[in-house]
Amino acid sequence: MGFPHQPHPKETVVLSQYFGDADARTYAGWKQRGGYAALEQALSMEPAKVIDVVKEAGLRGRGGAGFPTGLKWSFMPKEKTKPHYLCCNADESEPGTFKDREIMRWTPHALIEGCAIAQYAIQAEVTYIYIRGEFTEPLAVMEQALAEAYQHGILGSNAMGQGKRLDMYIHRGAGAYICGEETALMNSIEGRRGNPRIKPPFPAAAGVFGLPTTINNVETLVAVPHILNRGAPWHQALCLSNPKSTGTKLLSVCGHIRQPGNYEVTLGFPLGELLNDLCGGVPQGRTLKACIPGGSSVPILNREETESCILDYEGCVEKGTMLGSGGVIVFDDSADMVYQVMRLARFYAHESCAQCTQCREGTAWTVRILQRILAGEGAMKDLDLLLDLSEQMTGKTICVLSDSCAAPVVSGIKKFRGEFEAYIKGAKRPAMALA
Ligand SMILES: Cc1cc2nc3c(=O)[nH]c(=O)nc-3n(C[C@H](O)[C@H](O)[C@H](O)COP(=O)(O)O)c2cc1C
Ligand code: SF4
Repeated sequence: MGFPHQPHPKETVVLSQYFGDADARTYAGWKQRGGYAALEQALSMEPAKVIDVVKEAGLRGRGGAGFPTGLKWSFMPKEKTKPHYLCCNADESEPGTFKDREIMRWTPHALIEGCAIAQYAIQAEVTYIYIRGEFTEPLAVMEQALAEAYQHGILGSNAMGQGKRLDMYIHRGAGAYICGEETALMNSIEGRRGNPRIKPPFPAAAGVFGLPTTINNVETLVAVPHILNRGAPWHQALCLSNPKSTGTKLLSVCGHIRQPGNYEVTLGFPLGELLNDLCGGVPQGRTLKACIPGGSSVPILNREETESCILDYEGCVEKGTMLGSGGVIVFDDSADMVYQVMRLARFYAHESCAQCTQCREGTAWTVRILQRILAGEGAMKDLDLLLDLSEQMTGKTICVLSDSCAAPVVSGIKKFRGEFEAYIKGAKRPAMALA
């Protein structure tokens, strides 16, 4: 349910139940709503048992890749010889995605509880919640909730009076997209430049400060208390057809849509139904042209693909795209797809950390070629050049930012080639002048 709109009957409201309810932000309000019961339960279990429950529930990471959460937790060393860390990724800078900030704004204690359970399960003493620099209100709300959690003994050296150390710190980013990438985030916490690290070693072996670390997205972590409260079978049953994708997912819908906002649906929900029934469709007099279902990093769907796409991890892959972070960007027939692809590429060129040649040079050249086409100075061979460049930018770099730039370019040319050709042939007036 996306504040301020009311939940639609077809939504499955779990994580967003208290969006818009200011009382749920407070410790007292959260306790009244059953808060911290799941943490109490977790602390009475063996850490490995908590991991088993999350594995059985089938929870997968909501930050982008959909990696199984319990499995990720189980990669942490069993024999504890060094300090362990949990990082909560609250950077949320993927264009089109705006769900984590709402979770933090309305249910900060849900995030603290989810982090505390994960932290206990992976035997970490400390959690860092890495919040995007621009999130001023979520930051203030989280800081207030964290102070309350310490005041009431939920956190600290004797968390909930159970003799376990659970400490939590908020680390504010400075507003760089790349710091959402897990290893760049760890560098940033350490006070270094936010450059992604070469993997392996993976974070479970050498993460923040070179010590075993697990990193999870905000939405992933807030799902955990519900799983402990209601049981793994409840979560497994939240599935419309595909048992590999379970639970609910918050979808941030924006662009050419009558009712933008966050919508929470069971995985397996049809994308067409989300756009037409829950969000009211595209503006009057317009028709749907395209949609990016998982944040700007994933391939663009055309109208037919959008209307038949199932919103779960495998359903999106079947259509040649990804569920990603669930940022649904809608384009109606007024959208200029060449311009939109250029804007996306320009974002990635701006955000590249510049360590890898393919990314540093490739993103910049992609933008220049697209701008040349938009200026009416392109040639047909530019399309092949863009596709070739995109191929060189995919699967060859330290992180996938480079691939993310290539995805909308390749899918854009493949599905809307006529629009690119119209600029090249002079059939369409130039949309911009070359600088
Ligand atoms: C360039 C880039 C930016 C990313 N930004 C975010 C982000 O803002 N938030 C996030 O949760 N994950 C982001 N990710 C994914 C993280 O690297 C990581 O996979 C995720 O936080 C793991 O959490 P999960 O398993 O709970 O999904 C990004 C990845 C890349 C390559
Ligand atoms: S792919 Fe781009 S953003 Fe990622 S590490 Fe390489 S240069 Fe940096």
